[in-house]
Amino acid sequence: MRDERFMKIAILGGTGHIGKGFALRWGSLHDIIIGSRNAERASSAAKEYRGRLEDLGKKGSFEGVDNKTAAQMADVVLLAIKYRHVSSVIENITPVLKDQIVVSVVVPMEKDSCYIIPDARHMEVDVRDSAYNAEYFCYTQPAGGSAAEEIAKFLPQNIRLVSGFHNVPAKHLEDLSLALDYDIAICGNDMASKEVVCKLTEDIPNLRPLDAGPLQASSMIESLTPLLINIAARNNMDDVGVKFI
Ligand SMILES: NC(=O)c1ccc[n+]([C@@H]2O[C@H](COP(=O)([O-])OP(=O)(O)OC[C@H]3O[C@@H](n4cnc5c(N)ncnc54)[C@H](OP(=O)(O)O)[C@@H]3O)[C@@H](O)[C@H]2O)c1
Repeated sequence: MRDERFMKIAILGGTGHIGKGFALRWGSLHDIIIGSRNAERASSAAKEYRGRLEDLGKKGSFEGVDNKTAAQMADVVLLAIKYRHVSSVIENITPVLKDQIVVSVVVPMEKDSCYIIPDARHMEVDVRDSAYNAEYFCYTQPAGGSAAEEIAKFLPQNIRLVSGFHNVPAKHLEDLSLALDYDIAICGNDMASKEVVCKLTEDIPNLRPLDAGPLQASSMIESLTPLLINIAARNNMDDVGVKFI
């Protein structure tokens, strides 16, 4: 049975890795509108996600449209796109933003696959070891402090922005056979919209929302993601997440 407080959630970039996970996890409770630069691609993703839930005997509400239409139709707009694409996507949707809550899961980070231990000659490690030659990710802190604070500058002033879910691995989110067990640090300057996002977090079993403070705190949460990826790669761990104990 559908939750009576269901929401219309637009997932921009919902055709991608993390977008798919949110769509599948929320799809049986909320109306999910998959956004894409290409409406056909969005529509075929919506069909795929509906089929994934049906295979599990669940009903899901999915449709796929272009990013702008998706944002226009929604109560909550989740930006599931890479940091470098954020400004063009926001520019596209700005004319249809009225009172939607915008959620950023965006982590600005870069991969340096040529990472070499600078002084390896003096270390008792074999630099040919795959753990040391693993890709290295670093947080590329935007001038505004964090992706969320930069995004807030692009958005119209009345639009409330909430930042969260940065540390959830897409691979786990989209695998519905996995019981997740993560804490979700949520930042934002508006309590009411943060509460909405906390409730959406609780709609995914075993995700615990935690208030991490104002938007300004987002850099601390965003920057954990490359750390988690580096730890996972170097220590043969399956995608690593965060739990505060
Ligand atoms: N992957 C993770 O595990 C994870 C975890 C936490 C947070 N995040 C964050 O979530 C965001 C999305 O990550 P992802 O791994 O899901 O990304 P992704 O799969 O590489 O891309 C997401 C979507 O972005 C759209 N896109 C591609 N190029 C674009 C462009 N030039 N302009 C506008 N849109 C474009 C594509 O949708 P269309 O082609 O259909 O438009 C694509 O499906 C990132 O900011 C990332 O930091 C990711």
